Amino acid sequence: MKYCNEIKQVLFSAEQIRERVCRMAEQISADYKGKRPLVIGVLKGAWVFVADLLREMDIPADVDFICASSYGSGTTTSGTVTLLKDITLDCRKRDVLIVEDIIDSGVTLSLLKQMMLDRKAKSVNIVTLLSKPSRRKADVDVKYVGFEIPDEFVVGYGMDYDERFRTFADIGILK
Ligand code: IMP
Ligand code: MG
Repeated sequence: MKYCNEIKQVLFSAEQIRERVCRMAEQISADYKGKRPLVIGVLKGAWVFVADLLREMDIPADVDFICASSYGSGTTTSGTVTLLKDITLDCRKRDVLIVEDIIDSGVTLSLLKQMMLDRKAKSVNIVTLLSKPSRRKADVDVKYVGFEIPDEFVVGYGMDYDERFRTFADIGILK
């Protein structure tokens, strides 16, 4: 297994992730039937999730990416969010779905959601593969959650520690 010397425990295997992503895609497709949402993936962590989720959805969707960072190179939040790359599509009057890899404090997502509402999106909902509810600081309503996890730093399936492990197919806890 790639990176196996550095992973303490696999939390979700690639197969378990695929199952859950398929169920989430079904749910979102049903909720957005007849619509064409604008999906905004939050880089870099959500890149794998966005690709898998959107290909499983059976409704059309437009896709764009935003890059926001509330982390330096460590594992603790800095409390502020820096916008490193904005979307290029217009979100006015669109049904926006913000797609994240993981919600920790919720600071990033609450600010991004407000930003899209300020830009006059018709609706804004949040999709996250993982959530650490015990770490929440910002009050943010998350409509779709893949898995709730304990307060551990996880990597893989797009998520990194200092830019490493993004290409690990499972999701694991670092040693
Ligand atoms: P928040 O603003 O504190 O919710 O930060 C969320 C962002 O921090 C996520 O989009 C991730 O990029 C990053 N993050 C939070 N927890 C983890 C983790 O356990 N592993 C990898 N990245 C994480
Ligand atoms: Mg992220």
